[in-house]
Amino acid sequence: MNNTKEKTMSSFTSTIRTIEWKDTFSRMVDQTKFPEKFEYIDIKTGDEMFDAIRTMIVRGAPAIGIAGAHGIVLYAQELEKQYNNRSEFIDKLLEKAQYMKTSRPTAVNLMWACRKQIDIIESSTSDIAGIIEELKQNAVKLENEDIDINKRIGDYGAEVVPKGAAILTHCNAGALATVGYGTALGVVRSAFAKDNTIHVFADETRPRQQGARITTLELTKDGIPVTLITDGMCSYFMKKGMIDMVCVGADRIAANGDTANKIGTYTVAIAAKYHNIPFYVAAPLSTIDTSIKTGDDIIIEERSHDEVTMINGKPICPEGVKVINPGFDVTPAELITGIITEKGILRPDYKKSIKEIF
Ligand code: MRU
Repeated sequence: MNNTKEKTMSSFTSTIRTIEWKDTFSRMVDQTKFPEKFEYIDIKTGDEMFDAIRTMIVRGAPAIGIAGAHGIVLYAQELEKQYNNRSEFIDKLLEKAQYMKTSRPTAVNLMWACRKQIDIIESSTSDIAGIIEELKQNAVKLENEDIDINKRIGDYGAEVVPKGAAILTHCNAGALATVGYGTALGVVRSAFAKDNTIHVFADETRPRQQGARITTLELTKDGIPVTLITDGMCSYFMKKGMIDMVCVGADRIAANGDTANKIGTYTVAIAAKYHNIPFYVAAPLSTIDTSIKTGDDIIIEERSHDEVTMINGKPICPEGVKVINPGFDVTPAELITGIITEKGILRPDYKKSIKEIF
C-alpha cells in the first residue's frame, strides 16, 4: 500500500448515473442501444432484472452488483402480494435471491451485493413490509457508496498517472460499468481534473465493443480526449512510445492478485510487460474474492456465439463455422504493477497486500 490516509474527494464532475432505485422500481441506462441512443429503461420485476443483467442492458461488475440488489427488492415486492406468511415469504425470497446471483457468473460484485441483501433477509426481525423497506434502504446505500468508492479509487489512481500521459484502457470500466464515475475511468477522471493534457486510448473490445460503444461515448460526453483503436493495435502503439500506462477494471480478483477482466485484457498485459509499461487494475475491494486462491478457480462466462459471428446483426463468417466465446480472461498477478482500490494502491506481493487490506 502506498497510501492509507483519508482522501479528499475528486473535483471532477461526471453527470452519468447508470442505475438508480426509484421508490418501487429500478431505472437504468439501456446499454444495448449505444451508440445510437442514450435512453433509460425501467425494470419493474425480478425476472426483468435477471434478463437485464444476462442480456447486458446493464453490465460492468459494480453496476450488475447494484442491479442484483435492486432485483431482490423487486422479487420481494412481488412475493409480498403472494404470501401472508412471513416464513414462507422469506423461504421463497431466499430462493429468488440465490437465482439472481446466477444471472452472470464471473463478476463477483453480483454475488457480493446479493449476499448483502441475503444477510438482511436472514437476520431481519421485521415483518414482511419491514424487510422490504430494509432491502430498499440497503440497495440505495450500496448505490451511493459505489460512487463514493469510485471517487476514492480515482483519486488514488491519479497519483500514479504521469503528466500528459496517454492511458490505454480495455473494455469499459467507467461510469457506465458502475453507478457513476467509474473505476479505471474514475482514475482517468480524477487525473484529468488535475491535468487536462492526459489522453485515453480505448481498445475497441471485441466482440461486444464496450470500448468503441461505451468508453468513447462516456469520455466524449465528459469532454475527455479519447482515441479509439482496434484490439490488435495496442502493441503497435506501445512500441511507438505512444502509451504511458494501462489502466483496466476487474470482474474478480483472486487472493493472489490474478485478475479476471474482459477478454483481451491478458493480451494487453503481456504487451505492456514486454514494452515496460505500467499495467494497473482499478477495482473496489468488493471485486476481490479472497475465497478464491488463484485465477484458475475463476468461472469464465461463455457467451453466445452470435456475438462473434455477427456484427450489427449481420454475419461476418460462413454459416456453421466453429466458434468459442469466453467473455473474460485472467491476467496473472505477476503482470500487474498495482491494484488501485478505495483504500490505496496494493502492490506485489499481492497474497500479502490483499491479506493485509482485509
Ligand atoms: O461483459 P461486461 O461488459 O460486463 O464486462 C465488463 C468488464 O470486463 C469491466 O472491465 C469490469 O466489469 C470492470 S467494470 C468497473
